[in-house]
Amino acid sequence: MIKNIKNNDKLVFGSGSFNQLDDILKSKRNQSFMVFLVDDIFKNKPLCERIPLQQEDKLIWVNVDLEPKTEKVDKLKEEIMAITGKEPDGVIGIGGGSVMDYAKAVSVMLNHPGSSSQYQGLNLAYNPPVYHVGVPTLSGTGAEVSMTAVLTGPEKKLGIKYDGTPFNQVILDPELITEAPVDQRFYTGMDCYIHNVEALQGITSNPFSNALANQSLKLCHEVFLDKKISRTKADAKLMVASYLGGMSLSYSEVGVCHAFSYGLSYVMGLHHGIANCIAFNQLQEFYPEGVSGFKEMLKVQKVTVPEKVTARLSDSDINRMIETSWALSHMWNHALGKDWEHKISKDKLAEIYRRM
Ligand SMILES: [Fe+2]
Repeated sequence: MIKNIKNNDKLVFGSGSFNQLDDILKSKRNQSFMVFLVDDIFKNKPLCERIPLQQEDKLIWVNVDLEPKTEKVDKLKEEIMAITGKEPDGVIGIGGGSVMDYAKAVSVMLNHPGSSSQYQGLNLAYNPPVYHVGVPTLSGTGAEVSMTAVLTGPEKKLGIKYDGTPFNQVILDPELITEAPVDQRFYTGMDCYIHNVEALQGITSNPFSNALANQSLKLCHEVFLDKKISRTKADAKLMVASYLGGMSLSYSEVGVCHAFSYGLSYVMGLHHGIANCIAFNQLQEFYPEGVSGFKEMLKVQKVTVPEKVTARLSDSDINRMIETSWALSHMWNHALGKDWEHKISKDKLAEIYRRM
């Protein structure tokens, strides 16, 4: 079966486009209220003054120190439903990849019974979601375009993925990512770079995903290797790179690095961007060119990647990482081929995890 993907319904890109949010929401207001899920890093920052709140609207600050959790999605749904007893007209997520995932998951869960952990997987959700808008303030994850709301649940880290997950509207305003700290911007940007490297190398790659990944890769090189590029130009390019990279992986697949990084995040609670960097740093044998490019970008950007983060972990923690990673068969299948289980072993995974 050939993939039949769903993208965002509408998209606006450009500096200052955030100012159009009020206008965009006007036609979607229908006797209820809008919920703004906003990264709490923006508390008392100029951006919160610019959020077009109307009288009945609700702003909920979201803390994303930890990766998005099913439990928190369920709590947000309860909190929203307790406001007036009816569902909102829309959910608007303003923040990085984690806030994007929360906004997508909450909009789905407002129209589904039970816990979000029941819907972690492909096509387990079935009802249309509440109208939802994504406004990224960090670029790289591709969460603004992907069909997945990645969540850590009681049993696994796995996304809610179906046609209802992608945002109905995305606002890509490069001005919103200018204040991101250098390290965080880099780690998240590398998520995009790694999406491209992985999408290009594997049995699922195809001319459509390759065209997107190649263009996104070119933009990543311009952003992170060109020492003379202005931050304004770089931010606009990075925002586009993230979007194209996200689309590329939707139509191809991620690979070995993401399989490792999911295990790191699940057991150690590490954020996706930094977990990817820690993993990718040790994966030269799988992606020689990609890892060399990554190391070059680290040098140019004067950023370091934490090392030996797994040194003090118990065997049982390492085993949990291995099991999390091993279960991501679609990633291994893409990267190593259908007989991937004969090409890599759990002992090999342990040895690589111990190096990280
Ligand atoms: Fe990723």
